[in-house]
Amino acid sequence: MEVSELRKKTVFFLLSTTIITLVLLIIPSDVTIEKYLMDYFDLTVVKTVKPDEKTVNNSNTNSNTAVTEATPQIKIVKNDGSMASQFSETLIFLLINLIHIFKIILGMAMVVIAVRYINFLIFNVVIRSAAQNEIASLVRTIMSVIVCIVAFFIIFQSQYPSVQLAPLFTGSTILGIVVGLALQDTLGNLFAGIALQADQPFQVGDVILIQTRFTGVVESVSWRGVKIRTFQNKIVVISNAVLGREFIEVAPRDNLNARLVFFNTLYAHSPAKTAHVIREAVRQCDNVSAKMRPVVRIRNLGADGIDWEIKYWLDDYKKFNDTDALIRERVWYTFQREHLEFAYPTRTLHIETKPQETAFIEPDSEISDLISGVPLFDPLSDEEIEKIAQTSQLRVFAPKEKIVRRGQKGNSMFIVNRGTVTVQIRENNKVKPIRTLKAGEFFGEMALFTGEPRSATVVADEETEVLEIKHHCLKPIIENNPELVESFGQIIEKRRAGLDELHDSIAPNEGDTAGVFNQIRKFFGLRNKTKE
Ligand code: CMP
Repeated sequence: MEVSELRKKTVFFLLSTTIITLVLLIIPSDVTIEKYLMDYFDLTVVKTVKPDEKTVNNSNTNSNTAVTEATPQIKIVKNDGSMASQFSETLIFLLINLIHIFKIILGMAMVVIAVRYINFLIFNVVIRSAAQNEIASLVRTIMSVIVCIVAFFIIFQSQYPSVQLAPLFTGSTILGIVVGLALQDTLGNLFAGIALQADQPFQVGDVILIQTRFTGVVESVSWRGVKIRTFQNKIVVISNAVLGREFIEVAPRDNLNARLVFFNTLYAHSPAKTAHVIREAVRQCDNVSAKMRPVVRIRNLGADGIDWEIKYWLDDYKKFNDTDALIRERVWYTFQREHLEFAYPTRTLHIETKPQETAFIEPDSEISDLISGVPLFDPLSDEEIEKIAQTSQLRVFAPKEKIVRRGQKGNSMFIVNRGTVTVQIRENNKVKPIRTLKAGEFFGEMALFTGEPRSATVVADEETEVLEIKHHCLKPIIENNPELVESFGQIIEKRRAGLDELHDSIAPNEGDTAGVFNQIRKFFGLRNKTKE
């Protein structure tokens, strides 16, 4: 709470209460005013005793006897003894009552100002925790209402001591019914609000789903109702009484909340492979909690194919729509890469047997061109290039998807065919990009040639297509072309030096190029032999 606000409120409180007190002191008492008005209209008050008759049943005589009781009567008459005019009498009565009402209003204004100031001091200055805010708002309202009602009773009675207010509230059935009906909803909301506060099923910031109709983030909980902001940025206000009757699904803010995303595959695809590749893709998505491993499991063996569900936990549940969408997108890309297919309705007959196609598959000649475009493969013959082309696969990655991850084992290298990738490391817990590789450049050779874990993470900058060359298809080529060991050894040495400069290399560095050559030869099981 800002000091300036406290100062402002204190000044306002002191000023207004002082002014009201002064006004109350200045207003003359009603006795003085009455005396003044009586003098003005030349009137006087006369007390007479007029017999008032009451009939009492006399049981002894079985006859009605009139017994008289004397009650004093107050009359206003002119000083000369004649009757006062109706006008002057009414005016005096009105003016005196106006002064009473004015005093009641001033008194109530002072009470309201004091209650608000004390509320501010207690709930905003003393109790400042945000978690208490909503309780504070409800307790505050209830306390304020009680204090104001009690103050009204006291002030009213001080002005009209002869009027009995209590029987008015306790005795009048009709008043009770009228007030009860008028306040039915308000009281219902108030008590439902109290029950909600006591139970605290949700708090501000939680995501709630009310009877599958409204989903949104709780913005406030008050004595009247709950305000939620929907994901279309609209405000929905639901009264506590209605809320008390609804089913509410709550995703607490500080809880690991899970979501389900569904997809399906053809029966032809291996469930084990599908579960593995999809789980890995989901784990990489933003906002998927690293604390819980996503679950990918078969939901149903359906008529059209295998129905799957992905269960994942979110860091920030408010963003579940975006995260669901991102997961679906990654599922699509993973399907493209792994040649998985979504299940079509079984009534769709695939009469023509098509070669397996993906949206990004390219003719072999283009793959051969891509391989021969890498200068390091210059020593290879056309047949050898063709052989690599046939055993390699084009894979598509989504923007920001990790192609290789630092520390993982890797047995393949990649040539960028389309798009760009960024080689990055982590320094002081922050991601640091060290190189961007474009079409025709390659990566992943360090783990492939040395058998060490990946030295860096490589991420697709945009939708990127890479050619994956596996260890087993390169092994026979390297055995026939030992000079590749040298050229790749040099590039590995250079890239390692780049990483060493950043003091971040996880790959053990043998310190010189000869060390890398030996490492590669050892890994591929080669002896020091030259191409014949
Ligand atoms: P690998 O260790 O298998 O996986 C991460 C890849 O990032 C690595 O192979 C290299 O291909 C690439 N890489 C690592 N360091 C550099 C660098 N300094 N310059 C360019 N590429 C690099």
